[in-house]
This record gives sequence, structure tokens and C-alpha cells, in this order.
Amino acid sequence: MMRAAADCGHAAVDLQPPGDCGARAVAGFRVALGSRSIVMTNDLEYENVVMEFRGRGATVRALDTFNFHVAESEFVVVVGPSGCGKSTLLHMTAGLMHPTAGRVMLGGSIITDPGPDKAIVFQNFSLFPWKSVRSNIDFGLRINGMPPAERNELIDRYIKLIGLDGFENHYPRQLSGGMQQRVAIARSFVMRPRVLLMDEPFAALDAQNRQLMQEELVRIWSAQRPTVMFITHSVEEAVFLADRIVVISRRPGRVKKVLDVTAVAGASHWRMDPFEDVIRRPDFQELRAEIWGLVKSEIQLRS
Ligand SMILES: Nc1ncnc2c1ncn2[C@@H]1O[C@H](COP(=O)(O)OP(=O)(O)OP(=O)(O)O)[C@@H](O)[C@H]1O
Ligand SMILES: [Mg+2]
Repeated sequence: MMRAAADCGHAAVDLQPPGDCGARAVAGFRVALGSRSIVMTNDLEYENVVMEFRGRGATVRALDTFNFHVAESEFVVVVGPSGCGKSTLLHMTAGLMHPTAGRVMLGGSIITDPGPDKAIVFQNFSLFPWKSVRSNIDFGLRINGMPPAERNELIDRYIKLIGLDGFENHYPRQLSGGMQQRVAIARSFVMRPRVLLMDEPFAALDAQNRQLMQEELVRIWSAQRPTVMFITHSVEEAVFLADRIVVISRRPGRVKKVLDVTAVAGASHWRMDPFEDVIRRPDFQELRAEIWGLVKSEIQLRS
């Protein structure tokens, strides 16, 4: 069994998935602390979150009374006009910044710091250019003190999973954008994060690669099912990937509407089928149009 990332650096804490490892492979961890045992859930709670940036003279309120709950293993996609606070929301969830007021919680605990349990994937791939594919994926595992044999086995598995066998010793500059983003995704998943935070991860890719990457992400995510917060400007991408979509109002960002995609798509979610098939479905297009209407009204209101 694959070890959870969080147990690599903390010998005293033994993290193991709970008994049922089926569809919800890492949905919650049982944490053994001596004779005590607690279950950590991977849900996210945003409680009256306000975020202000104070500059010289001016204060920008990016988010205002943002309230939302992301269930464990849920795939939530965030859409909204430019500047409404989407990236800010993700940075707070990653522990990279703290709200001015309110609370952001993972599994009931306030998020205070970044860590391997909260992986983040950016639009610009952000790989180490001087490290090979293999070393990029290895980076977090090594920092967490995982033994080399275990690391190598994991890295081999993930390189296969992202279809980059034969490229393990290449450097980022020798890879296409799509290949680089696959490495970035593997580097996140290999750490078995509790939450995966993705900030427009496919925006820099061409349409074909974007579609392939969406399908690939679904495949990898389905095996591990971390809780996901995914930001995009593509409404089609949102409808294809999400369990729920949260539409944020123009700045200062608040929840404008939450749409339950699963309720429309049904048990066999659209994301399980090829993208080019599902976008032709009338119910897919109807939902897409509704969400685009909501986003568009926020953009128009701003001008
Ligand atoms: N570090 C910062 N310092 C000062 N202001 C900031 C900072 N980060 C974000 N802001 C401001 O907060 C607001 C929200 O920014 P954010 O990057 O979260 O928007 P966004 O929804 O991700 O936009 P986009 O869709 O264009 O990426 C903007 O007005 C931005 O200028
Ligand atoms: Mg942004």
C-alpha cells in the first residue's frame, strides 16, 4: 500500500487510510497517536472569510463574507470574473496567506501553514527547470524523508500513470507544455495530498492538450479522490469536471450561486465519458449556458 505523504516526515504519526479503501481511497485518514486514534476528514470550510490587501493609502477587499463548504473527496470548480478573489481563495486554502477575518478550515482545523497535505498546481507549470522529470516528482518525497527504494517505486508508478515513460531523465525545457503540466500533476498526486488546489492549470495549453489533460486528471483523481478546488475561466471545463460549481460575484468576491452538476449529470458523471461526446448533450449545454449567464452578468456589472 502506498504511504500517505504526511506520514513520511513524522515518524510518531502513523497515517493510514480507513478500512474501506474502495472508491474513497484516501477519504479521511485514521491517525494513531499512541493508544488514541482519530479520523481526520478532508473537508474544507470557509466561514465568513474576508480578505483585504492593504497598500499605501488604498485597501483592496478581495473577498467579503465568503461562506462555503467543500465535502471530503468532492471536486469543486470555482468560476468568476477576473479579480474576484479566486486565486486569493486558493492561496488561503494552501496556507500561503491568512484571511483578514473569518476562518478557513481543513478537517475542522484552521489552516495555518503550507504543507504537503495541501498540494497546489499553477497555470505556469512551475517545475524546477534544473531538475529532471524524475527529480521534480521526487522533490517532495525526498524532503519528507521517504526511503529511496520506496520513492523510486512510487515515481516509476506515477511516470507510467502520466504516460511519460522514456522521458524520466528529460528536463522541463525538453518537454511540451502538456507534458510539463502532467509532471506538475504527478508531483502533486505522488504526495497523496488531502486537498488538491488547482489555479487555472490548463489555461496555457492548446485546446487539444487541454482536453486530454482534463480526461487524464479525472483518471488520476478517481484513483485517489483528494478533495479538489479547481479554478478555471472555461465554463465547459467547469461543467465537465465538477461535482459542484461555485460562481463568485465580482470583487469583493462572495458566493453568487452554487450549482450541483452531479444532480444534473447523474450517477455516471459526464467526466467519465470523452469530452467531445458530452459537450454535445443538451443538458450539458443548458447548464453551461446558465453558468456563463451568471459569470457574464458579473463582468457586465463591473463595467
Ligand atoms: N498580494 C496581493 N497584494 C495586493 N493585492 C492583491 C494581492 N493578491 C491579489 N490582490 C488583489 O485582490 C483582488 C483579487 O485577486 P485574485 O488574484 O484573487 O483574483 P482572481 O479572481 O484570481 O483573478 P484572475 O481571474 O484574473 O486570476 C484583485 O483586485 C487583486 O489586485
Ligand atoms: Mg487568479
